[in-house]
Amino acid sequence: MKMTRLGIMAALPQELGDLIAQMRTAGEVRAVTLGRREYFVGDAYGVPAAVTLARVGKVAAAATASALIHVFEADAIVFTGVAGGVRADVRVGDVVVADTLMQHDLDASPLFPRYEVPLLERARFDADRSLSDALGAAAAAFIAEEGHALSERFAVAAPRVHRGLVVSGDRFIASHDALFALRDALPDALAVEMEGAAIAQVCYEHGVPCAVVRTISDTADAAAPASFVEFLTSIAATYSSGIVSRFLRAAA
Ligand code: ADE
Repeated sequence: MKMTRLGIMAALPQELGDLIAQMRTAGEVRAVTLGRREYFVGDAYGVPAAVTLARVGKVAAAATASALIHVFEADAIVFTGVAGGVRADVRVGDVVVADTLMQHDLDASPLFPRYEVPLLERARFDADRSLSDALGAAAAAFIAEEGHALSERFAVAAPRVHRGLVVSGDRFIASHDALFALRDALPDALAVEMEGAAIAQVCYEHGVPCAVVRTISDTADAAAPASFVEFLTSIAATYSSGIVSRFLRAAA
């Protein structure tokens, strides 16, 4: 897919890796402050891009996606970051590429079916197939080329790439009860995070293709806070830089 300008988002700086620094070494980068966020407009591995940090949560993500589309004229959006593993075989260090996304905490029942976005008549929003395929290929290449170093340096065992449902909500899931409630309610959920479905909804409303790639930082249980912080500070940037750089080089 040839992109006029790709919007690239993450929630936290570690989730963006060295992308902005790489853009700066490649050429001029215009920094624009808007809505208490900085947007960096320039060339990302040969792809015209607007890159920004959304901060955490669905409102922050939706507002940022909207600005990327309307102010920075992004014609596709990619989100990169970490997530909690929900399905039992999704482990720390694995990568999940969303096929579809939904808000696990949206509930206007009994007025509307649980999870459905009122008046939009749907709960699930599909990621763009070709962007997601390209992210999946980039993640697989990253793991094939750097998986060995990952296991040596960070004790990540044989990471895998998964495709499927990613669920989003304004809540950090960090208990056995919350995790099992999520699994019971949405048995096909692979991973949980706090932004993806909001971006997918905004992109759906505007007919803009989007994709979400998430590295698993924790398994959404009582160990999640410590695992999340450790993963974020030690390795999240390595994953994000490795995956996004391969994705962009292939797209350029
Ligand atoms: N992002 C990373 N881990 C998460 C979790 N356990 N819950 C929600 N968002 C997350």
